[in-house]
Amino acid sequence: MSTGWSLYVILLVVVSLVGCAWLLWVNRTASVDDVGQGEPLPSEHDGIVELNHPLPAWWSWLFVVTLVFAALYLVAYPGMGAFRGLLGWSSQGQYEAEVEQAEGLYGPIFAGYAAQPIPALVDDDRAVGMGQRLFLNHCATCHGSDARGGRGYPNLTDGDWLYGGAPEQIVASITHGRVGVMPPLGAALGGDPGVQAMAQYVLSLSGREHDAALAAQAAPQFATLCAVCHEPDGRGKQAMGAPNLTDDVWLHGGRLADIEQQIHLGRINQMPAHRDLLSPEKIHLLAAYVYGLSTAPDGVP
Ligand code: HEC
Ligand code: HEC
Repeated sequence: MSTGWSLYVILLVVVSLVGCAWLLWVNRTASVDDVGQGEPLPSEHDGIVELNHPLPAWWSWLFVVTLVFAALYLVAYPGMGAFRGLLGWSSQGQYEAEVEQAEGLYGPIFAGYAAQPIPALVDDDRAVGMGQRLFLNHCATCHGSDARGGRGYPNLTDGDWLYGGAPEQIVASITHGRVGVMPPLGAALGGDPGVQAMAQYVLSLSGREHDAALAAQAAPQFATLCAVCHEPDGRGKQAMGAPNLTDDVWLHGGRLADIEQQIHLGRINQMPAHRDLLSPEKIHLLAAYVYGLSTAPDGVP
């Protein structure tokens, strides 16, 4: 806080306190000229009159106590501009002390799990429970509380991986994030007719109903334009995050129009990096939870 702001805050605090004290002082007796104590005051509202009584003493004293409390508080705690108070308390300090206490309590538990390989944690109920709570806090917004994802957000329970489902690949996805980039290829395919033919070819890859003549027409272009990322057989390449196109699992929708749009416009899809948000020990537990989801037969460990 700059000195100017500090002085401004101090001024506001002092003026309010002095103002309250002054109000209290001038109202300690209701001194209305020419009206004795207990007599009706001249003003009358709809037939209701007020009697001339001083404020009850206990009431005034309550305010005095509040003012004294305020003064003592402002000496002990922050409140007077940049003055930190004699006790040295701060919300930041309290937060840090609580975090330190929590780390002292949970640090050894996290460290114990970090020392074990991820597949070994899948059967440890407490480790999985901790991983699940971290998942609900940090990942469920995008991947869903059941980790089944949604359009554009991969399902993490199905054993179908963009970047690989081995423990170290999952750790890398969480730690460094991922960016999936597919360039727009509408122009390279010669506009709408080329895109429509290519979409038929993509349908054929997963054995879906398609126009065989159009698909055959697009096959050579798949080899030149798409195979670099999706591999010649269409099974995808994890190093690029290029999805398997043969499994009828669709990240961005499996309708013909979705596939045509993907080919036409391409896409950039991002998983944010979490290395600055979560310690390596927490990422280890999260990876164990995700790994367990996809290796369990029903997707639920
Ligand atoms: C802001 C949304 C968002 C958040 C938060 C998020 N993710 Fe993701 N995640 C994505 C997207 C989008 C992708 C797919 C990226 C792509 O298509 O290239 C992804 C991909 C992944 C992958 C790779 C999946 C694969 O098939 O290879 C894993 C593993 C993953 N996320 C786990 C997590 C975990 C664990 C968390 C919590 C720490 C998390 N994500 C938080 C959006 C998110
Ligand atoms: C530079 C690499 C690259 C090239 C070239 C490329 N793709 Fe892709 N493709 C990707 C990536 C990466 C994704 C996933 C994007 C994401 O992370 O969401 C993708 C996604 C797709 C999808 C959506 C799959 C789904 O599950 O929803 C389709 C369909 C597709 N590509 C078809 C093609 C076709 C057809 C071509 C050639 C005309 C092609 N791609 C060329 C990298 C590429």
